[in-house]
Amino acid sequence: MGKSQLFFAEQNCGIIYYRLECGEKVLYNLVTRMIGNTLQLGLAGLGTVGSGVYETLCRNYKLLEARAQIPFAVKKIAVGNLARKRDIEVDPALLTDDWRELVEDPEIDIIIELIGGTNEAYKLVKAALEAGKPVVTGNKAVLAEYGCELFQLSAEKGTPLYFEASCGGGIPIVQSLQNSLICNKVEYIAGIINGTSNYILTSMKEKGMPFRDALEEAQRLGFAEADPSFDINGWDAAHKALILAMLAYGTPLNTDKIAVYGIERVESIDFKLADQLGYTIKLLVVIKHHADKDSLELRVQPSFVPKEYLLAKVDGVFNAIAVKGDIVGESIFYGRGAGKNPTASAVIGDIVLAMRECRLADYHTGFQPYTKELSVVPMGETVTPYYVRFRVQDRPGVIAAIASKFAKYDVDISATTSTNESVDENGVRRNHLVFMVHACKWVRLKYVLRELADNEYIDRHPAVFRIENFND
Ligand SMILES: NC(=O)c1ccc[n+]([C@@H]2O[C@H](COP(=O)([O-])OP(=O)(O)OC[C@H]3O[C@@H](n4cnc5c(N)ncnc54)[C@H](OP(=O)(O)O)[C@@H]3O)[C@@H](O)[C@H]2O)c1
Repeated sequence: MGKSQLFFAEQNCGIIYYRLECGEKVLYNLVTRMIGNTLQLGLAGLGTVGSGVYETLCRNYKLLEARAQIPFAVKKIAVGNLARKRDIEVDPALLTDDWRELVEDPEIDIIIELIGGTNEAYKLVKAALEAGKPVVTGNKAVLAEYGCELFQLSAEKGTPLYFEASCGGGIPIVQSLQNSLICNKVEYIAGIINGTSNYILTSMKEKGMPFRDALEEAQRLGFAEADPSFDINGWDAAHKALILAMLAYGTPLNTDKIAVYGIERVESIDFKLADQLGYTIKLLVVIKHHADKDSLELRVQPSFVPKEYLLAKVDGVFNAIAVKGDIVGESIFYGRGAGKNPTASAVIGDIVLAMRECRLADYHTGFQPYTKELSVVPMGETVTPYYVRFRVQDRPGVIAAIASKFAKYDVDISATTSTNESVDENGVRRNHLVFMVHACKWVRLKYVLRELADNEYIDRHPAVFRIENFND
């Protein structure tokens, strides 16, 4: 008998199982508690995460039942393609290719949405909430796009929506923000929350690989999807950032509120220069509260991070999220931000929470906005120091031309460095000039770069990184 069959034998025939385990006397109480009292789960999606959830529910059923003190069973599983061959053993009678069957089944108490995407997933979550069924989801895209509407529906219906797995995979950041850190005003959240891009940047740093080679290696090793667009263009991290920002500041947000830049244009040379200057490069999510204006800074971009800061040491597919609260100070959550089992761990944490709350009629968490809509700081107004690298022709007057534009817009240079010259394919001598600049508004640096873009001796696309010095 395979593991999944054993699981269902255990639940459906609880009497046999407990007779074996506990003896006749205890059996009586357990059976009375279990009959008619088993919570029924409807699982939508049996891909990477869904299969991890199902397998773990099977493997650790006894442990979960003992800890949660609530018997449960998976009643139905919705998939996209019934004919697909699966790596895990599942009773075909459980499968359907119509998720509506889960929502419409009066015996199903809780819906777990793991189908991904924004279209069907949105319809499913909405239909489940409308039907009064608590939903567990790992879908950051659907929450970033439709979160405000879905959370409002959740409140209207008094039906919770759980989403731990939508941010940081196995890292328990959502429940930490909702519960453990509840008394804190959050000053900032800074994080590395996309494992694929962090893997690529780590390969570029450690093996000196160009971006394209590092991406291909990540794809070969299964750390990047065949279509990695959302991971490398920053939008996967941005979706998670929006969810974290909503949680930390209690304000509704959506995708047009966040400035997003990906890692496609990071070059190996910037890693070398960053290293010499005491930094490394990370795709960083920054969510910062500006208390003076009661507004939020929200951005995702490759940034210079001081080597000694903990986030700089987060390498490979690992994720980390730093939260600075006014009471707790800075806490850093580190772990696996994706993958079958880590994500299943977060989903099942939510399933158990949902089961417990099903037992407490008026207990309701999830996210509800509690403050007015906070304004978002325009990108041009955000302030950090910068690293700017120009590729230039090696000739007199170029440095002076650059320095004069910095002076014109009152952007202070804190240090400069350059690389040895080389001769390009056209026989022109070139080198890289690096300018470290003191904290200034982005809009001022943007004017500098715009004016220099017309200089025939300077390449049009300089490399620009923000320098994130935390706890300054
Ligand atoms: N993968 C991760 O590491 C990770 C981490 C955190 C969060 N998440 C989130 O978890 C969710 C699932 O991700 P995943 O990686 O497990 O995706 P996946 O491997 O692509 O699996 C998707 C599953 O949904 C099923 N499905 C697709 N459309 C459906 C429909 N209309 N009705 C019913 N079932 C449908 C598919 O069925 P078939 O199997 O028949 O094709 C498949 O089983 C996503 O929202 C993702 O963002 C994933």
